[in-house]
Amino acid sequence: MTATPSRRQVLCGLMVGLLAPGALVACTNGSVRDNGVGNGQSGAVLAKVTDIPVGGGNLVNSGSTGQLLLVQPTAGEFRAYNPTCPHLGNTVDPPENGVITCPAHGSQFNPANGAVERGPAQRPLASVAVKVVGGDVVLA
Ligand code: FES
Repeated sequence: MTATPSRRQVLCGLMVGLLAPGALVACTNGSVRDNGVGNGQSGAVLAKVTDIPVGGGNLVNSGSTGQLLLVQPTAGEFRAYNPTCPHLGNTVDPPENGVITCPAHGSQFNPANGAVERGPAQRPLASVAVKVVGGDVVLA
């Protein structure tokens, strides 16, 4: 069974399709994020806690808007980042040996806070708030 979209939903869909992804913000009820990644609803499950290794991480589906890099720098501490490298937009790799690395030109980032550890990137990875609920990591 499919629901009939409201006039507002149809107009917002047209705006998003015709104008820009940023137009999405104007079409929400306030519960959708505006950073372009992680646009799922608060509470959306990203992964099971047990699927994210301590000291490592995984690229996970954040819903209809793409992937997030979900990491666990230390036991029980989870962080999520837009995996798009702020240098030229390649997708960064999950952490290895304590750093997140972009395979394109070698920029490195700190898994605990996304800060640049080595260029050429000049800006940190964009973080997305997450929390643990039960055995799942969810959007905060
Ligand atoms: S695109 Fe990531 S270092 Fe250049």
